[in-house]
Amino acid sequence: MLRDRFGRSIDYLRLSVTDRCDLRCTYCLPAGFKGFEELESWLMFDEIERVVAAFARLGTSRVRLTGGEPLLRRGLPLLAARLSSLPGIRDLSLSTNGTTLARHAHALRQAGVGRINVSLDSLDRSCMASITGRDSLPLVLAGLRAAQEAGFEPIKINMVAMRGVNESEIEDMAAFCIERGFVLRLIEAMPVGDTGRGASFLSLALVQARLRERFALVPQAVELGGGPARYLATPDGRASIGFITPMSQHFCATCNRVRLGVDGTLYLCLGQDDSVALRPLLRGGASDGELEAAIRAAVERKPQRHEFEERPEKVIRFMAQTGG
Ligand code: GTP
Ligand code: 5AD
Ligand code: SF4
Repeated sequence: MLRDRFGRSIDYLRLSVTDRCDLRCTYCLPAGFKGFEELESWLMFDEIERVVAAFARLGTSRVRLTGGEPLLRRGLPLLAARLSSLPGIRDLSLSTNGTTLARHAHALRQAGVGRINVSLDSLDRSCMASITGRDSLPLVLAGLRAAQEAGFEPIKINMVAMRGVNESEIEDMAAFCIERGFVLRLIEAMPVGDTGRGASFLSLALVQARLRERFALVPQAVELGGGPARYLATPDGRASIGFITPMSQHFCATCNRVRLGVDGTLYLCLGQDDSVALRPLLRGGASDGELEAAIRAAVERKPQRHEFEERPEKVIRFMAQTGG
């Protein structure tokens, strides 16, 4: 098992399979962004599989495919099938913006992807267009329907809650999710890169109190995934709402994850610059033992927590570069 110097077990690898995206969400990727990785530095499927197999030998059981938008990576279901059949990997999941999910849902399910999280910040078409930079709502809704038809359960909806942007829609979104059987997760925006900052920041503390009252929510009994969300459930236990509060109540003490960028950079914390380049090892003839030793040594250097508040200027990577 991978353990860091603060005693945390690291068993969840988030894997960015592309840094490209067909949307430009205001809190994630700035319009006009030019700093994408050159294609030759992208890890190929064989290389990704080799890294994931090394993590699996070191006790990692959960892998999440992210991006950028992971479904833009050609052949993604083939990669998913290879990863889901690796010994030790028991939870393969995907975080997507949903725009092309209708096309891919069935193949992803066949490939062994067990769980899907979809970004959906608004049910208002023009609000969604202004957050994502494109008229994306109809595509995402079609993607969600296809994911349900393909049998994904649970399907989580990620809504970054923003003051004065989609704040007034939170209760409607909760009702929508409860009615359709989606697990809503409300997320506080993190100041990553030069986005996710400023006046639109909304703390979820009050939002949570309001939702608790409106939907008579109670603490959730069963675990729902391996991430940082804290869940409440409706009284009949049929629907859940998760709260992801990296800013108002961070969860770094129980952090269980590291992230692999599309170019093979292992990022040790979302909110810190610490990283280790694995690509030179993969392309330089390193043995499996050397790869495992490098991963172990990297995890030992995992920072204790993010410093978004203390040093807001610090992280210069955008979410799409690190892997949301
Ligand atoms: P499961 O709980 O396994 O379903 O996944 P998840 O919630 O970790 O995955 P998802 O990609 O849906 O992440 C949702 C959001 O949680 C991300 O966009 C981040 O905003 C936040 N998040 C996930 N992991 C971390 C983390 O390690 N640190 C911080 N600060 N935020 C995180
Ligand atoms: N703060 C919080 N969440 C973010 N995401 C992207 N950028 C940010 C940010 N700055 C979320 C998206 C997506 C998930 C993978 O990452 O909502 O659902
Ligand atoms: Fe883990 Fe860093 Fe995220 Fe905190 S900010 S939960 S330490 S990755």
